[in-house]
Amino acid sequence: MTYTAKTFNLPALQGISDKQVKVHLALYEGYVKHTNLIMEKINALKASDAEGNAYLIAELRRRFGFEFDGMRMHEYYFSQFEGGQTSLTAGSAFEQAISRKYEDQGLEAHIREVAGTRGIGWVVVYADPSADTLHTVFVNDHELGQLAGLPIILALDLWEHAYMVDYVPAEKKNYIDAFFANLNWSVIEKRFDEAK
Ligand SMILES: [Fe+2]
Repeated sequence: MTYTAKTFNLPALQGISDKQVKVHLALYEGYVKHTNLIMEKINALKASDAEGNAYLIAELRRRFGFEFDGMRMHEYYFSQFEGGQTSLTAGSAFEQAISRKYEDQGLEAHIREVAGTRGIGWVVVYADPSADTLHTVFVNDHELGQLAGLPIILALDLWEHAYMVDYVPAEKKNYIDAFFANLNWSVIEKRFDEAK
């Protein structure tokens, strides 16, 4: 099997230019291409000389998570803008889960706090249905430090490629403002409901 790059039905975004979206989508497509390529190369190396190529195959297997997670994380990221900005549904199960975990601070302010972590990476919000809670984590490299088995409900890309067409590094906060100005919370809420 091979993966196909998804197309996202994106509205015009506030504070994130078409050029920024275009270069970021091209990067996403690179992850899809290389996810497929790694699978192909492992199969070819195995077929030609599995023993002689063992080190190569092992390194490609280690690298698979980098390409696959790069692909999947960007699918979480871009699909959050589809349908345009909406607010949280008052009184929903998701809002109640947010109140239990983040109390008066709320989820958006908490994400902004975690997004202030120095360095590149992602802020990832997970649902943990077994414990009936949420976790917000700063994931540096998307293939490392993810929470095993927990459904991702929100992904904020804080790699510089996500905003440096429009902003300089010192303006990361403006990019985060733009992210929330375009975020379709109903997509996040749907992911939360499906995780239960
Ligand atoms: Fe990205």
